[in-house]
Order: sequence, then structure tokens, then C-alpha cells
Amino acid sequence: MTDISPLFRPFRIRGMELKNRIVMAPMTRSRSPGAAPNADNIAYYQRRAAADVGLILSEGTLTRRKGASNDANIPLFWGKEPLDGWKKVIDAVHAAGGKMGPQIWHQGMSRKPGTGHFPDAPSDGPSGVTLQGKKVSDEPSEADVIDMAQAYADAAADAKRLGFDCVELHGAHAYLIDEFFWEVTNQRTDRFGGASIEQRAEFAAETLRRCRQAIGDLPLLIRISQWKSVDYNYKIAKTPKELESWARVLVDAGADAIHCSQRRIWEPEFPEIDGPNGLNLAGWVKKLTGLPTISVGSVGLSSEFTGAFRGEGSAKGKLDDTIARLDRGEFDLVAVGRALLQDPEWVVKVKAGRFNETRDYDAEALKTYY
Ligand SMILES: Cc1cc2nc3c(=O)[nH]c(=O)nc-3n(C[C@H](O)[C@H](O)[C@H](O)COP(=O)(O)O)c2cc1C
Repeated sequence: MTDISPLFRPFRIRGMELKNRIVMAPMTRSRSPGAAPNADNIAYYQRRAAADVGLILSEGTLTRRKGASNDANIPLFWGKEPLDGWKKVIDAVHAAGGKMGPQIWHQGMSRKPGTGHFPDAPSDGPSGVTLQGKKVSDEPSEADVIDMAQAYADAAADAKRLGFDCVELHGAHAYLIDEFFWEVTNQRTDRFGGASIEQRAEFAAETLRRCRQAIGDLPLLIRISQWKSVDYNYKIAKTPKELESWARVLVDAGADAIHCSQRRIWEPEFPEIDGPNGLNLAGWVKKLTGLPTISVGSVGLSSEFTGAFRGEGSAKGKLDDTIARLDRGEFDLVAVGRALLQDPEWVVKVKAGRFNETRDYDAEALKTYY
């Protein structure tokens, strides 16, 4: 039988003490019509906090830039009613013994024009270039770019004021911050652009520094990915050296932990270097920076999450390899998405050695909200 104890060792990021290594992955559910978290949303998060999730990362929640989203059912993280709703969320999570941080999000050029809370607002991006590389609007001024960065910091300040335990910046998946990392969407020639990944990481650094200024000692996380929503095989960092240069900018700008998004936790990032069982992305980032990392991708399942949006389920998978990697210190925390979306009790079952009671992931789970 698998020894699950490595999953249940405490961990600390700055002043945030986590009771175990399991993180609920940020998952957009589009269940906040009117833009403010409601009673259903509060109950959804509280249920998982009460069932032993170590750290909950919220669904992506939007900055005050009006073009931040394509969907008016995604909660905002600004304005009186949304923030009152978020206050109730964090209070309910704390009352159940949980810890939580919001994932601050701006969709950038991934947003379809004319959609979201403010359909008339223009979309923001580094260069007015779409994910397909097509120029569709003027490049924003430097002052505009700085305001995009400050908008994350304003949300982070509110997260601290409301009592959240940490803040995560969504810097992955071809959304705004990632669009600055990516040479296709970032064609700037000022200090926010350039030929190297270090140069294109300057927007993330500006944002992290502003967030740090806003939240003092509160743990600050950033999520990154190699993949893009339009190309799952894409790698921004093609070598460990490039990955190191990229991650080093984030560390120097004040990140406390890096959340490395991949679709399958067992996949090695650079197998040409350390073989088919080599370090995954979170493993490499931890090795190169020394910072705590969160890994993710099909934990407890056998196939990856994009199928969920095509109406596909996933058979259960084994936990052995994930636990072995965690135990070796390859990464520090494990984020779980669909398994926790479907079953709020997933952690309790794993902890009690009742993994046999967890189920295959059913695509219908997306249609329910419990
Ligand atoms: C319904 C759904 C919504 C998601 N929304 C977000 C999001 O808002 N922010 C984010 O960074 N990732 C998002 N993801 C990706 C997850 O955080 C996670 O990385 C992915 O599902 C892989 O984990 P899993 O295989 O355990 O599901 C979403 C995934 C799903 C299935």
C-alpha cells in the first residue's frame, strides 16, 4: 500500500503555515452572476476547507482593468459588492480551518472582444497582437502597461485587507502576464519587451514588485506555464539555462513560491537532460531557484484536464509517482484540480487511506456545483 504520509507533512511559505501539501488548483467555474461571490460560492470553498484541503487557490478573479475578462459570470476582485462577497468567502474558509489565496487574473488578448463585464472596453495586451500573432490594435503606452501591473497590486492589497492568507498571480496559459513572456504577443521595444526571456519577464517583475509593496509580508505566489492555450507543446524556456533566467527574474522581484502548471505531473521537462523519469517543471524551477514550488497536472487521474472542456472524463490514476516525487523533495506542494472539483472530500478520503472510494472523473461534474 502507498505511504501517503509525505502528502500530510506541514509546510510553510513565509508566515503561512499549511497543514498538508495539497492545494486546490485555481478553477474558473463562472458561477458568480453579478460579479460578486454568492452563497453558493462561499459554500463551495468552505466545503473543501472543512475537508482538509491544505491551501485553496480561488478561481481566477479579475483585476479592475475593464477588459480583463470574457465572461460576466467570473467574479471581480474589486468594487464593494465583489469584495464584500470575497470577505465572506475567506471568513467561511477560516471558520472551517482552511487557508486560501485569490488567483488574480487578467485575460489579456485571450479575451474575445466585446465580451465580459464591460463588453465595450478594449482588450489589453503587450502589443495589441492576438495569440495568433495578428496585430489588431495599437501598442499600449508605458503608462498604460504600468497601470495594468498596478491593477494586480490593487487587488493584492484588497486580498490582504480582507484577510486572505496569500495571493497568487495568474502568470500562465497565454493570459496577460504570460503574453508579456511570450515573443509572439510581446513585440515591444521598450523596457517591457526584448529578445530574451529576462527582458520579457519585466512586466511580471514590475507586477510582483508592486504587489510586494502592497502586501508586505503576505506570501506572494505566481503561476507560470510553458504551454499556451493555442499550443500545448510550446516551451518558452527551451533549456534549463533559459528557465533559470526566467525564474530568476521572478525570484528577484519578490515571488515566494512558483506554481508550475503542466498537464501531467509525471512528465519530465527536459528529458534530453535527465531522462524519461527526470524532473518535471516544478522540479526544475525548485532546483534552479531554491524557491518552494507547486506542481500540478492529472493528480489522482490518468488523463489531462483539457478533455474536461470537450466533455471528456478521466479514469482514476495512481498517486504513487506523485508522492514519491514529493517525498524526494522534487517540489513542495501538489495542486489538485478536477479530482477536487468533483469531490470536495477527496483529501479526507486519501488521508484515511480510502483512495479506493475516490471515483473516475466524470465530465458531468463541470455541470454541477457542490
Ligand atoms: C474547469 C476548470 C477551470 C480552470 N480554471 C483555471 C483558472 O481560473 N486559472 C488557472 O490558472 N487554471 C485553471 N484551470 C487549470 C487548473 O488549475 C489545473 O491546472 C488543471 O485542471 C490541471 O489539474 P487537474 O489535472 O488536477 O485537473 C482550470 C481547469 C479546469 C478543469
